[in-house]
Amino acid sequence: MPKHWYNIAADLPVPAPAVLHPGTMQPVGPDDLAPLFPMALILQEVSTEREIEIPEPVREVFRLWRPSPLVRAHRLEKALGTPAKIYYKYEGVSPAGSHKPNTAVPQAWYNAQAGIRKIATETGAGQWGSSLAFAGALFGIDVTVFQVRVSYDQKPYRRALMETYGARCIASPSNETNSGRAILAKDPNHPGSLGIAISEAVEVAATNDDTKYALGSVLNHVLMHQTIIGLEAIQQLEMAGDDPDVVVGCTGGGSNFAGISFPFLGLQLRGGRKRRIVAVEPAACPSLTRGKYAYDFGDTAHLTPLTKMHTLGSTFTPPGFHAGGLRYHGMAPLVSHLKELNLIEAVAYHQNACFEAGVLFARSEGIVPAPEANHAVKGAIEEALRCKREGKSETILFNLCGHGHFDMTAYSNYMAGKLVDQPYDEKELAMALSGLPAVSA
Ligand SMILES: Cc1ncc(COP(=O)(O)O)c(C=O)c1O
Repeated sequence: MPKHWYNIAADLPVPAPAVLHPGTMQPVGPDDLAPLFPMALILQEVSTEREIEIPEPVREVFRLWRPSPLVRAHRLEKALGTPAKIYYKYEGVSPAGSHKPNTAVPQAWYNAQAGIRKIATETGAGQWGSSLAFAGALFGIDVTVFQVRVSYDQKPYRRALMETYGARCIASPSNETNSGRAILAKDPNHPGSLGIAISEAVEVAATNDDTKYALGSVLNHVLMHQTIIGLEAIQQLEMAGDDPDVVVGCTGGGSNFAGISFPFLGLQLRGGRKRRIVAVEPAACPSLTRGKYAYDFGDTAHLTPLTKMHTLGSTFTPPGFHAGGLRYHGMAPLVSHLKELNLIEAVAYHQNACFEAGVLFARSEGIVPAPEANHAVKGAIEEALRCKREGKSETILFNLCGHGHFDMTAYSNYMAGKLVDQPYDEKELAMALSGLPAVSA
C-alpha cells in the first residue's frame, strides 16, 4: 500500500488559478479557511509538494480494505467481442461501498488531531455521508449530514447506514439553516441539490465555533487523498505486466476520476508517455462538456469562496436522475484546469445508456455498480467497442468507484422501463449562467 499521496500541483505546467474571496476578490489565505477546516488540511489544499505522507493511523484504518483489487474484466471483454484488455479498480470493497472513505478517514483523523469533535457535511448519493459517518465513529467525532432530499427519499437505507455509524442525517433543504429555510419558503417540495446541501453544512460550521466542515469532493486535498487509487493501480498493473492506454473515470465533483488518473498524468507530466484520460459525466448535469469555465461559488447560497471551474451556475438544480453523486453544478478546479490544458477529455451520457452498461457489467463480472460508476463502465465499454471497430488491442483501465447495493430501486426502475433520460432545462441553465459573479481575473 502506498505510504504517500500524490499531489499533481507539483507537476502542473501552469499553476491552477487562485481561489478568490468573494468580498475582496483577492486570493484566499489559510486564515480565511480556518473557520471551516483544520490547518493541516488547509496546508494540504495549497501545497505544491509532490508527495505527502499518509499518517500511519490512517494507513492502519485503510488496511481494513486496501489495497483494493485490480481486476481484468475477461468476461466483459468476451461479451463485447473486443480485442481490448479491460481492467477495473474496485473501490466498492470499502466499508461504505465506494472510494469516499479514502478521504473521509484522513479528514476525520486530521480534525480529531486538531481537537475537533463535531463535523457538518452534505451528501448526494449517501456514499460520502456514510463514509464520514464511519470515519467519525472511528475517531470520536459527531457527524451531521445534510442529505439531498431526492436521495434521502430514494435511498432510506443510506440514511440507516449513516445512523448505524452514529451520524445524524437531515433531508436538505431543511428548516435547520437560513439557507435551507430560504429555499423551502420559495418551494416547499424542492428536490434539493448538492449546492444547497453544501450551503447548509457550511452555514452550520461557520456559525458554530465547535463545528468544522468536510467536503467529499472538489477540493485539492480531497482529490489528493483519492490518488491512493491510481498509485495502487500503477503498482498492480506493473505486476500484471501491463500499462493502460486509456484511463476512464466518472465525474461528479471529480475526486474518484482524479484518484485513478492523476498518478498516471503525473508520470506523463514528468516526461512519461501520453495516455488518454477520459472523464464521463451525466448528460443531465454536464458541467465539463456544457458548462462555462468561469469563477463561481461552490454552493447555492454563496457561502463558499470563488473557484475557477467548469460550472452550470451555482443556482442550477439538475433534474432528479439516479446518480445522485453526479448532481453537482461545478467541477473540481484541478480537473477543470486540466481540461482547459487539453490534458484530459470529457464525454456525457444519459442514464438509461449508463444503466444498460451497468447491467451488462453485472451479468458478466458479477458486481452491480453504483449508478455513478455506471458512467465509467459506459465510458470503458465505448472505448472497448472503438478498439473493436479499429481492430486495436489497447489496454483500458477504469475506476469502478462503488457498488450499487443501496441503489436497487434505481435498477428496478430501469428494468421496468421507468427511467427517463431527463434533459436539463436550457432556460434554467441560461439563467444560472447569467448569474455568474463578475470577476475580472
Ligand atoms: C459512488 C460514487 N461515485 C462517484 C461520485 C461522484 O463524486 P466524485 O466525482 O467526487 O468521485 C459519488 C459521489 O457521491 C459516489 O458516491
